[in-house]
Amino acid sequence: MTDSTTRATFGTKLGIIAATAGSAVGLGNIWRFPSQTAQDGGAIFVFVYLACVAFFGAPIVLAEFILGRAGKANSARVYSNLAPRKKFHYFGYFAITAAFLIMGFYMVVAGWTLEYLELSLTGELARMNDFAALFDALRNDAGTQIKWTVVFVLATAGIVAFGVKKGIELASKLMMPLLFLMLIALCVRAVTLPGAGDGLAYLFAPNLENARSAGPRVLTDALGQCFFSLSVGMGCLMTYASYFGKDVRLAKTAGTMASLDTSVALLAGVMIFPTAFALAAQPETMTETLKAGGPGLVFVTIPQLLQSLPGAQIWSVFFFVLLVLASLTSTISLLEVITAFVQEEVRVTIPKPVVRLSKKVRRGDGNAVLRQEYRFSRPFSVLVISAGVIALGVLCSFSLVENSSLKIFGMSIFEFLDFLTAKLMMPIGGIFISLFAGWQLDKKILAAELTVAGTLSLRFFKVYRFLLRYVAPAGICAVLVCGFL
Ligand code: PHE
Repeated sequence: MTDSTTRATFGTKLGIIAATAGSAVGLGNIWRFPSQTAQDGGAIFVFVYLACVAFFGAPIVLAEFILGRAGKANSARVYSNLAPRKKFHYFGYFAITAAFLIMGFYMVVAGWTLEYLELSLTGELARMNDFAALFDALRNDAGTQIKWTVVFVLATAGIVAFGVKKGIELASKLMMPLLFLMLIALCVRAVTLPGAGDGLAYLFAPNLENARSAGPRVLTDALGQCFFSLSVGMGCLMTYASYFGKDVRLAKTAGTMASLDTSVALLAGVMIFPTAFALAAQPETMTETLKAGGPGLVFVTIPQLLQSLPGAQIWSVFFFVLLVLASLTSTISLLEVITAFVQEEVRVTIPKPVVRLSKKVRRGDGNAVLRQEYRFSRPFSVLVISAGVIALGVLCSFSLVENSSLKIFGMSIFEFLDFLTAKLMMPIGGIFISLFAGWQLDKKILAAELTVAGTLSLRFFKVYRFLLRYVAPAGICAVLVCGFL
């Protein structure tokens, strides 16, 4: 185990906010949130989503922070540090697997953003008019998708190889504020398009008809989106929190991060839906068109919005640079979960039989074996994991091509990984983290981590522990059961 004196830490509090919010804010907000909203018919999804963030997501973000900083290790060893001689670290393996599977499809979508960036740089995007056909062509072109996936994985690997302070923190601090400003500017443009009001109503005014057609699926969709968007339930925030200093206020950090993430998702909605309605050929059938938009929605609507601006090319370069960077801060955090684990836990022991007996290596049975233990360096760990991620990314890219036979339960591998991780693994991870922090973690540690200067309101502590013990686990179970029935 790496002890706390040698373990890396983030440099500043602003850096911590930027890195955790950087992990949370990404394609989940700008690509996944709008397409889930569209699939479930608008406002009803948004409201269930906000409730999930308030009651399940944000409290579990805080629990991950508490466990990470108290356990000071990768997401598997945290459990053995906090509950020695128990088998909870297996749960860490589950979380690490989730990180790997998420990367498999996330890197492909991140690759799409690179393709759009290239098209923006060359000016082609600004000249095009059929964006739906453009996206379709990309989806069916496995070669291009693979090329960009590889580029994205390598870029992520390059940053993670540099470590916590220089790589992750610096990159996040620079990019997050820019992204925010850009989104606000695009939202202003979107809501001032003629006919934009219908899009806002679709997003914020619950409509019974739409709610009925979405059915109970809206529950699991919103729950999955909440976990995915907050990067919570799979050890990512726990790993980051293991790099927090003692003086960081965890509840405040969790609150800030969750609010930033949620605001970016809502801003993305405000940017996309008014645009879709304003520029639609037939606004009357918009609900159906949006439903059918699937994962391509954002890649069709945003270029349309950008094109409506004077100086479209500059705007689109700027937008896709930011989207690429926002995705990068998320992929960095995903890769870091596995890297921290491999670097700290994996050891390769190579036995070397020796001819001459030396006292040092003599074993009881008289055989002499010299054992050499190797650990993986950070760059080497990153390299090995990246190779695996690329392999999975290749499978996902091929599975998207029309008529591909790479299907699991009728879904393409891409869709299956998205479903499995966001809608099952992360919420189940959340239940576990909540139960562990509520029941297993020493009450004194929980209190100590929550308070920095010894000033903790007893009432907050009690309510929070009650939430972790009962409300969140039971609520998440109920949502999963109702949504899948
Ligand atoms: N939250 C990220 C996003 O919204 C995705 C992510 C999930 C990152 C899980 C890390 C861990 O894009």
